[in-house]
Amino acid sequence: NDLYAVVGNPISHSKSPRIHSLFASETGEPVEYTAIQAPRDDFAGTVKQFFERGGKGLNVTVPFKEEAWKLADRRTERAENAGAANTLYLDGDGVLVADNTDGCGIVRDLLINHGVTLNAARILVLGAGGAVRGVLGPILAEHPGAITIANRTVAKAEALVELFTPVAGETRLSACGFEQPSEPFDLIINGTSASLQGDLPPLSPKVIAEKTVVYDMMYSLQTTTFNRWALEQGAQIVHDGLGMLVEQAAESFRIWRGVSPATGPVIDELRND
Ligand code: ATR
Repeated sequence: NDLYAVVGNPISHSKSPRIHSLFASETGEPVEYTAIQAPRDDFAGTVKQFFERGGKGLNVTVPFKEEAWKLADRRTERAENAGAANTLYLDGDGVLVADNTDGCGIVRDLLINHGVTLNAARILVLGAGGAVRGVLGPILAEHPGAITIANRTVAKAEALVELFTPVAGETRLSACGFEQPSEPFDLIINGTSASLQGDLPPLSPKVIAEKTVVYDMMYSLQTTTFNRWALEQGAQIVHDGLGMLVEQAAESFRIWRGVSPATGPVIDELRND
């Protein structure tokens, strides 16, 4: 079997080994996929050792995505824009290549799994950290009408606007604090880590209309804190990030194996855990 792994710290809760072994059995690809906890101060050594032992590809998760991006000898365009990498592999010449499939993952989950229209949509993105930077490029490629990036630290949202303006095309990009937006959006994407501290961004309820689609990049067995708030404000459609997680994994699998696994059955299986 060809060897793959996810590297992070901590790593024991990662769903990636489960997801990729479901892809392997579904496609019949000879893939063995494990989880590796890298020491915080030796991500590079862990990666080097993995590929020296004949490993074929790595997924990278918290806190090493930026380091993976730096470590690579070559980056795909979407990894370049994301400033972080979640997928590593060696090309035919043994060059370490970094890709980022997170943005592709959320876009496919929205478009294909949930039937959400991004083209011309008015989108409110909450957060301006690595998670948001990782997905903005692929979302912009769907030509939304406008993206408002709201963040606790407004300067970080402004920096993202500046960074993505060259690839924004006709999409209007703007930055603000959480309190400012006061009219309904077509889609609200929560990319903050506020819920990890049990916090909610202090948004006006006016950002939510009945038709607003709410998407929390987090997921948990229970409805997420943010989605619960949105439902209380009258949102009818809320999704969490489980589909994104499976879709980003599927895109990594496709990069490594040249085969696209079906994601629907895997999402259903994880949902029922
Ligand atoms: P990630 O990789 O998850 O994006 P990050 O780069 O540290 O992690 O970014 C975390 C994001 O969540 C940031 O937008 C952060 O806001 P700041 O830029 O102001 O720090 C946001 N965030 C974290 N905790 C938050 C909280 N309690 N309330 C609101 N926003 C929060």
